[in-house]
Amino acid sequence: MSRISRRRFLCVAGAGVAASTLPQVSQAAVAAATQPLHADTANPCVAISSANGIESVAVARGLVLEKGMRPVSAAVQGVASVEADPNDMSVGYGGLPNELGKVQLDSACMDGPTHNAGSVASIEDIMHPAQVAELVMDRTDHINLVGPGARQFALDYGFKAEDLLTERARQIWLKWRSKRSGDDYLWPLLDTEPADPALADEPRPWGTIHCSVLAPSSDVGCCTTTSGLAFKIPGRIGDSPLIGCGLYCDNEVGSAGATGRGEAAILSGGSWLVVERMRAGDTPEQACLYALKRVAEQAERGSRWQPALWKDGQPNFGLTFYAVRKDGLYGSASMRGAGRFAVADAKGARLENCAIAFGNK
Ligand code: GLY
Repeated sequence: MSRISRRRFLCVAGAGVAASTLPQVSQAAVAAATQPLHADTANPCVAISSANGIESVAVARGLVLEKGMRPVSAAVQGVASVEADPNDMSVGYGGLPNELGKVQLDSACMDGPTHNAGSVASIEDIMHPAQVAELVMDRTDHINLVGPGARQFALDYGFKAEDLLTERARQIWLKWRSKRSGDDYLWPLLDTEPADPALADEPRPWGTIHCSVLAPSSDVGCCTTTSGLAFKIPGRIGDSPLIGCGLYCDNEVGSAGATGRGEAAILSGGSWLVVERMRAGDTPEQACLYALKRVAEQAERGSRWQPALWKDGQPNFGLTFYAVRKDGLYGSASMRGAGRFAVADAKGARLENCAIAFGNK
């Protein structure tokens, strides 16, 4: 039985709603749970993303409403500006490189109406992996392309090969490398307490952008794109290009995605779980919190071989889920801290507070 106490699992609702305990499967709990966040129109058009996507959600929603674009393409186009932004060091151009100083990107997209998906992983030199993932989805019957195959596929379709390592990212990588000693692949887990105190000022983040879109037609689609874990072992694939992990949608239910520690989203099948919880009646926020609780229970077990995963009775890493339901409800929850997410609906694009699974971190 899990030793995670209900007291520790705070489940602080977003948008200023009072704290509650973790929602259970029952409809009674769903009914009693936090005030849902709702796009306030009859046929809502909603885009939700990680906080770095405030522009992305506005663009995605606009493309659906003004151009009639399908949600998955709107999501892919929405994240393009983040992929091209040298100042976002977790995605695309300017992303932090792997341990050899090479930027390797992961991305996937999923289309609700066709229940089709495409992804690329460990792709090098291509600034917009989400657009390549969309081509994999539309132009092949494959789902995942990886490494050189993904790169060649992109080049075949006219994408330009370019060096994605910015000078700023290169300097950060050099600094990391200068302090590294031996096999310290586990220390990135210690994001609050590095094994080597000299690395205390060295962030090794998991960035990423996820974007889920609901059209007035009730169709959904989503994409996730990232440079993954900074200084990762070359070839490491995170959750972002894995369907059901870093993203998932079902046109009968809604759409969801994840940012943060990819390994946790993979081990939990996190985005699939969020969508299935919404199918069972959870609000998006409840579903996200449920998935985080599941992740926390798994992390506690995992901490037997990776003690760094668990500290002070709670997970020692960040993970955030985002979700939108077909009726326009949306929500997000973070494992800890005070996360924000971006949303665009009839009221415009803005940042809102994530619900928080664990406090005091
Ligand atoms: N969530 C991004 C990654 O772990 O690669």
